[in-house]
Amino acid sequence: MSENPRTFVRFDVLRRIEHILLIVSFSTLALTGLPQKFPTASISIFIVNLLGGIEMLRIIHRAAAVLFMFEAIYHLVDAGYRLYVKREEADMLPGPTDVQDALKAFLYNLGFAKHRPKMGRFNFIEKAEYWAVVWGLLIMAVTGFMLWNPIATTTALPGQAIPAAKVAHGAEAVLAVLAILIWHFYFVHLKKLNLSIFTGRISLEEMEDEHGAELEKLLQDEQKPKIAPETLRKRMAIYFPVATVLSLGLLYGVYRFVTLEQTAITTIPPVENPVEIYAPQTATAAPTQTASPLPAATLPITPPQTSETPAASVPSFTWEEDIAGFVQTSCSMCHDSGDALDLGSYAGVMKANGVVAPGDPENSLLIKKVADGKHPGAFTPEQIELLTAWINAGAPEKAP
Ligand code: HEC
Repeated sequence: MSENPRTFVRFDVLRRIEHILLIVSFSTLALTGLPQKFPTASISIFIVNLLGGIEMLRIIHRAAAVLFMFEAIYHLVDAGYRLYVKREEADMLPGPTDVQDALKAFLYNLGFAKHRPKMGRFNFIEKAEYWAVVWGLLIMAVTGFMLWNPIATTTALPGQAIPAAKVAHGAEAVLAVLAILIWHFYFVHLKKLNLSIFTGRISLEEMEDEHGAELEKLLQDEQKPKIAPETLRKRMAIYFPVATVLSLGLLYGVYRFVTLEQTAITTIPPVENPVEIYAPQTATAAPTQTASPLPAATLPITPPQTSETPAASVPSFTWEEDIAGFVQTSCSMCHDSGDALDLGSYAGVMKANGVVAPGDPENSLLIKKVADGKHPGAFTPEQIELLTAWINAGAPEKAP
């Protein structure tokens, strides 16, 4: 390389294979993960059906996750080898020059600077992207483990950790997919088609534009000092056992990850003949149209009263106090003010025909509709008791 070459080697074969592994595992994860995050979108339903159902989709998702983890372990061992045995420069580590480069690039983009910053082998954009992948992998592995092994997880963490992991897993997925589609694709496909990760080579112009500092270095000291074979052998004698133990440990971790439990793979089929879960234990009160207090016997929670207690102190149920909260939680994600049936407000509930028949819980769709278990959303037996008592009391909005 004494004369000015037109292209430079940028990625060796192993790096290029790693990138292909990442493409395969990442896109498979995205294609099988996003339909689980957005299950009602028609494209999601299409993908689930295409792959032969939700369970197959989940298994493919997990297989891709394992591939991703294998690739991460390989990458770690390889990075250790380059850094420790070959003493290559840790050129992926961010440093103060990256902040300066970012600032210079910003000024250049705005037209305030004449030249682009001269950047090293990995410029600040590439470093940020690399560490974003590392960060994303860690989040996805931890939350993925929790979702894959919820029972094991909840022996150590409270139950809320599982839905929290689900939110974090899905949100990080959306972030990662957007980062690839917008950030990565912009820099390597749109701004300029950069195929060096496939061809392994990069042109002189691209070197000048994006890795000026590396180019200068390459043109100056061609001959890197060779490591003495003796030193190399010594380092390998230390590195190989360490790397073997480390990777076996990590592989065992992946094995446990995969085999610990199958809880989250199977979908429990819906019950064919649902058992009636609500059976009133007490006679219901005679229908009334006003918010009158109920006989103590129909109250789900026995009020602290004796026979002398004046009737007025017996709690009666009102929309505002007792009902609105849980009905909104269970139902208004679909039935809100934008829907013909608005279960988010008293007016909406009472307006709809037959949804609440004051004094007649038997014929109130609010209870009947969800009782057969086929309708989305559900009420607990306690909530149904409350609803029944409230409707029996004439379904008042608030206390008089
Ligand atoms: C995932 C969305 C979704 C949720 C959650 C949901 N519903 Fe519905 N609901 C619908 C759809 C869609 C319809 C119209 C089709 C039908 O009647 O099944 C409907 C219809 C109804 C009707 C019939 C309205 C009429 O005028 O015939 C009632 C009553 C009802 N829902 C009550 C409830 C209650 C009570 C809850 C909360 C426990 C609830 N729904 C939760 C989607 C939902």
